[in-house]
Amino acid sequence: MHDKRPIRELIACHKTGWSMEQRFYTDPEIYQLELDQIVMRNWIFAGHQSELAEPGDFKVLNVANESAIIVRGQDGTIRAFANVCRHRGSLVCLEEAGNTRKFTCPYHGWVYDTEGALTGARDMPKDFRREDHSLHAVSFNTVHGLMFVSFCDDPPSLEAARRDLAEPMAMFDFENLKVAATKTYPISANWKLSVENYQECYHCAPAHPEYAKMHTLMLDDKKIDRVQEHMKSKMESCGLKDIQFDFTDSEAPEGEQGYAYSRSAMFEGYKTGSRDGEPLAPLLGELKDYDGGASDFTIGPFSFLLAYSDHVVGYVFTPVDQTHCQCQIYWMVRSDAEEGKDYNCEELVWLWDVTTYADEKIIVDNWSGVKSRYYRPGPFSGMEWLEQRWVEWILHELRRAPSVIN
Ligand code: FES
Ligand SMILES: [Fe+2]
Repeated sequence: MHDKRPIRELIACHKTGWSMEQRFYTDPEIYQLELDQIVMRNWIFAGHQSELAEPGDFKVLNVANESAIIVRGQDGTIRAFANVCRHRGSLVCLEEAGNTRKFTCPYHGWVYDTEGALTGARDMPKDFRREDHSLHAVSFNTVHGLMFVSFCDDPPSLEAARRDLAEPMAMFDFENLKVAATKTYPISANWKLSVENYQECYHCAPAHPEYAKMHTLMLDDKKIDRVQEHMKSKMESCGLKDIQFDFTDSEAPEGEQGYAYSRSAMFEGYKTGSRDGEPLAPLLGELKDYDGGASDFTIGPFSFLLAYSDHVVGYVFTPVDQTHCQCQIYWMVRSDAEEGKDYNCEELVWLWDVTTYADEKIIVDNWSGVKSRYYRPGPFSGMEWLEQRWVEWILHELRRAPSVIN
């Protein structure tokens, strides 16, 4: 690494409206700072509570070097625990999901119940107190049925997000969705490139012919206004007054997790995000009609949802290590819809599966170039304004790190 500038100086050199310096992607010290200041401090989307419908239902969420067990206890409450044994630190649960009455550590057999309490530990000294060795709690919360985990004891509040997203989420009855399909896409690139990619549609026309046929976000401003006028008038019929943007992370008040919401029209002839524009599943919530709209939700810095009239697609981007990340996608339909009768999984996942594979390719190509000695920050286009805001928020958060301030 030739650039030896201190991180504080590197942040100060960032030019507003330009992409980040190479070291924000390649420097292991900056990656570690990002984990401490950003990834572990915010809420991470972890699926829908319907996945854990019964006592003992659990799933594991892995983010960088952390792992959480999310489990519905025998008392009916969903909690999250660090997947780290209180004996000598082994991972306790090696399965991705399932149903159990207890978690038995594979190393020496310590046993924990579904509420995190240690219930079995062989041959320990007389003064050993099991109650001092429960699994560590990990912050867990829900927003209208969506599960969120934070690897931080004092995460930002989700109150404002829950309050302001209540109405637009109620339209689709987010509480009563179920996960019809989920898939993890490993991406060999620094995690920020994949979040940045999701936030701009400058690439959509060249990279996503399938998406570009139906979604209007890659149109220029004049054309988009014309299409959205049409949506605005249609939206009044479903109780939403306007297309709006609430604050995102860059503007969230201190202590609140940022969030955003917007609604846009799809091209004429598209009722939902399907191959032929025809419905994929029964209408969500109280919707009376396929109105050709799509609602975008953002909760926190890594989690995004796109709600069509008949299904919701949730995306979460997380680092695996400095040079690998993953995108996990959840396809959700109304809870009483039946596979094979009301929807077909292959058709349901088609658009975002093909689009995410195309994204993986362009993100990995981007990563190859960003690592080159010829890489220099480049100017954002007008269509990359959300990404620009996110990049500036990342730098803002890094600047607050004690090691950067001092
Ligand atoms: S590390 Fe879990 S029982 Fe020893
Ligand atoms: Fe894309």
